[in-house]
Amino acid sequence: MKSMASPVLYLILSLAFSFPLSSSTLDAMSKGTSLSIEKPEVLISPNGAFSAGFYSVGDNAFCFAIWFSNSRTVVWMANRDQPVNGKRSKLSLQKNGNILLTDAGKFTVWATNTVSLSSVQLSLYNTGNLVLRNLEGVILWESFDSPTDTLLPRQQLTRNTKLVSSSSHTNYSSGFYELFYDNDNLLRLLFNGPDVSSIYWPDPWLVSWETGRTSYNNSRIAVLNSLGNFSSSDDFNFMSNDYGAMLHRRLTLGYDGNIQLYSWEEERQTWVVSWQAIQRPCTIHGACGVNGLCSYVTGSSRKCSCLPGYKMKSSTDWSYGCEPEFDLSCNKNESDFLLLSHVEFYGYDFGLFPNYTFDQCTNLCLQACNCRAFQYTFRYDTGSWNCYPKTLLLNGYHSSYFIGDIYLKLPKSKYDSYVNHAEKFSLVCSNEGTIELARTYVKNRENGAVKFMLWFACGVGGLEVICIFVVWCLLIRTQKSLGADKQGYVIAATGFKSFTYAELKRATKGFTEEIGRGAWGAVYKGVLSDKRVAAIKRLNEADQGEGEFLAEVSIIGRINHMNLIEMWGYCANGKHRLLVYEYMEHGSLAENLSIGTLDWKKRFEIAQGIAKGLAYLHEECLEWVLHCDVKPQNILLDSNYHPKVADFGLSKLQNRGVIPNSTFSKMRGTRGYMAPEWIFNLPITSKVDVYSYGIVVLEMVTGKSPTRSVHDINEGVEIEHERLVTWVREKKNGEVANWIEDIIDPTMEGRCDMGKMEILVEMALQCVEEDKDTRPTMSQVVEMLLYHENDHH
Ligand SMILES: *[C@@H]1O[C@H](CO)[C@@H](O)[C@H](O)[C@H]1NC(C)=O
Ligand SMILES: *[C@@H]1O[C@H](CO)[C@@H](O)[C@H](O)[C@H]1NC(C)=O
Ligand SMILES: *[C@@H]1O[C@H](CO)[C@@H](O)[C@H](O)[C@H]1NC(C)=O
Ligand SMILES: *[C@@H]1O[C@H](CO)[C@@H](O)[C@H](O)[C@H]1NC(C)=O
Ligand SMILES: *[C@@H]1O[C@H](CO)[C@@H](O)[C@H](O)[C@H]1NC(C)=O
Repeated sequence: MKSMASPVLYLILSLAFSFPLSSSTLDAMSKGTSLSIEKPEVLISPNGAFSAGFYSVGDNAFCFAIWFSNSRTVVWMANRDQPVNGKRSKLSLQKNGNILLTDAGKFTVWATNTVSLSSVQLSLYNTGNLVLRNLEGVILWESFDSPTDTLLPRQQLTRNTKLVSSSSHTNYSSGFYELFYDNDNLLRLLFNGPDVSSIYWPDPWLVSWETGRTSYNNSRIAVLNSLGNFSSSDDFNFMSNDYGAMLHRRLTLGYDGNIQLYSWEEERQTWVVSWQAIQRPCTIHGACGVNGLCSYVTGSSRKCSCLPGYKMKSSTDWSYGCEPEFDLSCNKNESDFLLLSHVEFYGYDFGLFPNYTFDQCTNLCLQACNCRAFQYTFRYDTGSWNCYPKTLLLNGYHSSYFIGDIYLKLPKSKYDSYVNHAEKFSLVCSNEGTIELARTYVKNRENGAVKFMLWFACGVGGLEVICIFVVWCLLIRTQKSLGADKQGYVIAATGFKSFTYAELKRATKGFTEEIGRGAWGAVYKGVLSDKRVAAIKRLNEADQGEGEFLAEVSIIGRINHMNLIEMWGYCANGKHRLLVYEYMEHGSLAENLSIGTLDWKKRFEIAQGIAKGLAYLHEECLEWVLHCDVKPQNILLDSNYHPKVADFGLSKLQNRGVIPNSTFSKMRGTRGYMAPEWIFNLPITSKVDVYSYGIVVLEMVTGKSPTRSVHDINEGVEIEHERLVTWVREKKNGEVANWIEDIIDPTMEGRCDMGKMEILVEMALQCVEEDKDTRPTMSQVVEMLLYHENDHH
């Protein structure tokens, strides 16, 4: 055998000498041959896409690996946790049919443990599978059966295999995250940390049917097909957002704990994310370790910090978390609690204590030596305060959308020094009101002519300032920011995809069924090829480049909330710019108010829903977005009359900062919803949306449009109120006991819960305060409405 292989090696050697810089390539290996690091040889798949050989992973350290030939992205490793020395290490296909990887000519690091008496061949297939088979074609071993962190198209994930992340961007050794089939047949993600382990995907508090999965199918098999459709036996399916034939794709469990599908973009020679499992990276467990806290910086990147009084354990690796700087004594007289707002720690409660007073909860935690902190949260469903003492502070994250507080146990002696720390700390996530947003239209044109135009326009009342713009958390990324992947991908998208113009033209039957028209263009109803009914918005022609458009769309596409309209995809062909949204059966809130289909109950729920959607936009730091055009035309209702806010983030898609000429001539009813800041040239904050929201709620309760003046008969005299707000305010202050009955929409009268309507009106009047600082935030509105949800039954 050896004598047969020698001429081949000789040939290879001579080739290697004639091209000293490139490694020589092999189609296959047969018995008795070997690959070594000193004379670089690689196995190449017939189509040239994949290479297998020794891959340098550090100083004189090598792993036997398979990688994409063009990008050198590793897809598989034999010895990721035990790299071999650069000298005298080799991979040999032995005469007995076994493949051995030996380190420095001495001990075996890895083996396939295969046996074959007949002759065998090791070759790399076009799929990226490294296969050992005998002459009869029987497969003895294949790399597809032992994946590392990557699944290639057509490679099955089974009950016997799992993906394990790598340690870091540069370190290929096994990390802490695993994708595997659990005992209940569900595909899950697990954080398997140094001290603790926990499942974080699908959301651990959901039961299987709530996740849309099935636990009945025991086959436990998942595969990504060559077109980008992933299907798993637990009914978890997804499609790549660039579904279709593609040169290369890979599904990789990243060192950050997220699974992402990457597509190779030939033009730019880069990997692009075409799907990902987790949109909000702070929900990935173990991200910041024990006593660490995850918060969002910009986009989808996250940042870790230690709790006050704690310091980082390992200076480089957050997975080890933080350790206390103090000795937490068990003496109840020497501890105090530090409040951290909007902070949640998932799990590790030593019990749930419902209906506890704050003092009871404090005492409970003081008495228990292993209590590190407690969460004290109001449960709206039971209407009581719950106490959750925590023995371990893991999976912590800060999000201003989370309504709940944590009280951290700290030694009294050092308490004061931590209070300051905590104040700084609560600003980690941009707190609305503390950041003033640039008014784009003022910034671009400081000249007097425009100011005059603006005043003039306000004066004649014809100005409609269309202003939706997106502002990212302006915080500077710290050095310790995770998530910022250096692999250079471009779009991180949920599941939304790119459509061709022809597809959308077909879907809308040539843009025939117009269902709406707004500042950004017309909206058509259409049926997509997969039978989903969609609302397709055709944007006015923009001179924005395709790349810029895609970047913005991918931001909007990532925003995901039950009270925000979902974007399914987009089209950017030539001059055409289209957006594909879910279709909302019951049209807009404006239409429904005018035809009187909404009873008081629906109106209350709609007010709640809009508030939740806006609160999410404003305060989930991940996507800090102002809407700026909240009005009943932009609130859509689904088949169950659940509201969804539409049209957020659109101004970025058009020329921002420019008031389109057309809006001067056309009135679209936005005037009545605009906060005074616009007119008085004051800083624009998220409170402008709060104002508009307040107006919308007043309109819902009274059934009167803010754009028309209110006519009222008082003691036989007709009084005209120019503003809906002043009318309602006067009624309320009018010392009439049943003032609410005077103002509510006559179509609801009699069948109406006056108490609930009063709550809405009082809340709305706070929202429309002239002084923006006295208006509540959207999440305070949510809290107010949830609090009253169970009243007045
Ligand atoms: C890679 O990570 C492993 C495990 O975390 C560690 O033991 C090893 O030293 C790291 N290697 C390098 C080169 O940093
Ligand atoms: C993707 O796979 C799922 C499950 O096998 C199937 O139901 C679906 O029709 C497929 N989609 C496409 C577009 O092939
Ligand atoms: C279970 O899943 C496998 C693979 O997806 C599929 O072929 C099979 O039909 C499923 N079985 C049942 C009973 O649904
Ligand atoms: C703790 O406080 C209680 C009451 O204030 C006191 O009786 C007790 O001696 C204190 N214990 C210590 C160790 O200081
Ligand atoms: C909580 O306590 C109050 C008064 O102590 C009681 O009326 C209520 O039923 C309790 N709620 C629960 C959920 O135990």
